[in-house]
Amino acid sequence: MTLPVQALVLQYVHECIIYGRSMAIVLGMMTKKGGAGKSTLTKLLASAVVFSGHKCLVIDLDPNEDILTWWTSATEQGNHDDRLTVRATLSSEDLFDLVDEHDEKVDFILIDTKGEGADWADHLASVSDRLIVPCLNSRSDAERTRETLQWYSDLKTRVDDPASVPPLHVVLTRMPTSLLSYDGRGTPKGMTGNDMARYKSMVQEFRPLKSIVPERSQYRDMDERGLLGTLLDQARNGEWKDKGQALHYESALAHATDLMNCILTGEAMETVDGA
Ligand SMILES: Nc1ncnc2c1ncn2[C@@H]1O[C@H](COP(=O)(O)OP(=O)(O)O)[C@@H](O)[C@H]1O
Ligand SMILES: [Mg+2]
Repeated sequence: MTLPVQALVLQYVHECIIYGRSMAIVLGMMTKKGGAGKSTLTKLLASAVVFSGHKCLVIDLDPNEDILTWWTSATEQGNHDDRLTVRATLSSEDLFDLVDEHDEKVDFILIDTKGEGADWADHLASVSDRLIVPCLNSRSDAERTRETLQWYSDLKTRVDDPASVPPLHVVLTRMPTSLLSYDGRGTPKGMTGNDMARYKSMVQEFRPLKSIVPERSQYRDMDERGLLGTLLDQARNGEWKDKGQALHYESALAHATDLMNCILTGEAMETVDGA
């Protein structure tokens, strides 16, 4: 697969022209549920941004410091990239300061958050250009997402100017790869009838982004070792002497890039037949 890297660059430039600005695009990961895939989503979007030649700051607001630990370990393994900077903080004041400080220095700022509590949610909304809500195909995730959407519509009534509230997009995560080529008929491999019914009703209710995050071993690898682009370079340079691996990493990166483009355009999924 050819990497649609230029597509990301074009989309980004397009967005800057629309907004007439040279400031970073800020994406806030937003869900109260742990394990929904926020940190993984942050890492794969950072991979897409860095691989396309853009500079990225990730702010880790999770007390577990998952992203900071990940980046420290990746750096120790020699898998770092100067275009990515990671900072961790628990204070909203620091959050505002960090965004101010980096707004003109980087192209994207990604903010990863913790799994519980909502005391930081309003602050996150006030610094973000997009709020991203990862959601697994499970009943409890659907409930949490419903609560998040409720918070979002309440927020619009609480602020002076509802237009200042950034768009919010639900992203379906850890979905079976078979869904990527699903043509709307039958049940894709790896999903039960129940999964499919839940998926359809979630699409109907949440209108998630068109691009999903599939369950991929490359994303788990990214979790352990570092940015996808670095892993792709290693695979291409024959470190693993396996061209098949390189293809898998290309495809994983292409998908991450596609997802970033989808976040920028906000293109929603069409409802599934029979939903
Ligand atoms: N798309 C995916 N493919 C494979 N593994 C995933 C994917 N998304 C999440 N995971 C795994 O699920 C676990 C929890 O995900 P994580 O991103 O840490 O969730 P959160 O940050 O929301 O708590 C991690 O071990 C991660 O590797
Ligand atoms: Mg996390």
